[in-house]
Amino acid sequence: MHALSAQVREAGKRIALVPTMGALHAGHLSLIDYARAQADFLVVSIFVNPLQFDRDADLDAYPRTWEADSALCAEHGADAIYAPTAPAMYPGGFATKVSVAGLGQGLCGEHRPGHFDGVTTVVAKLFGAVTPHLAVFGQKDYQQLKIITRMTADLDMGIEVIGRPTLREADGLAMSSRNVHLSADERAQALCLRRALDKAQELAQGGEREVQKIKSAAAQVVEGASLARLEYLEVVDADNLAPLTRLEGPARMAMAVWLGATRLIDNDALN
Ligand code: PAF
Repeated sequence: MHALSAQVREAGKRIALVPTMGALHAGHLSLIDYARAQADFLVVSIFVNPLQFDRDADLDAYPRTWEADSALCAEHGADAIYAPTAPAMYPGGFATKVSVAGLGQGLCGEHRPGHFDGVTTVVAKLFGAVTPHLAVFGQKDYQQLKIITRMTADLDMGIEVIGRPTLREADGLAMSSRNVHLSADERAQALCLRRALDKAQELAQGGEREVQKIKSAAAQVVEGASLARLEYLEVVDADNLAPLTRLEGPARMAMAVWLGATRLIDNDALN
């Protein structure tokens, strides 16, 4: 990958990278299409990164759909797929961890120990191998996007990190590779995430500034779904992810909810 990128760079071409763990859906394809339009050479990486899974069962169950993924990458104009094996990424003796302080502590970071260190470590390696000019991520993983943006700036990587809006199913459920694990009943009740975000937005737009009131009303929506278990629901500063008590500037509401054995996350701007 490194040799190919060096050749492409030598030819004066601009490289875009869309990092993924495969199981590509329309949300990924919107990132790929966006990246395609921004660069001369488009790389999609597909690597189910063991370092970022805090539960073995989640890693084992993660959907692996190589045939479909590679066909979709070709259809959407990728010039290369970078799909290293785990031993190639992490050979014996591998000992480096990339860790961004602060931003990774709350929200998902509090509930998934080591997760964001796994993400930043693999993304730093993907950036090192692909040497992209720009990299495109989804805003569904809002905390991840903020952490990667920080890492890229702090380590002078010289890569433009772009966050793109979450794509949703027609009924509002955020697209996710994990949605395939939902039973029909869980799928129906998964709408509680979008409804909780809508409830919060409705209150904020009606003038409510007290975050506690907004959080309680949104949490009630999730708790009304009998199959849902709320892991966290937080309103944070959209930039530094610090928890807020009042809505004053740009804010983001983020949550994680379990539907049976499947953990879903979602977030949206709150103004
Ligand atoms: O968002 C993802 O799919 C992963 O966290 C990423 C960025 C590809 C790193 O493994």
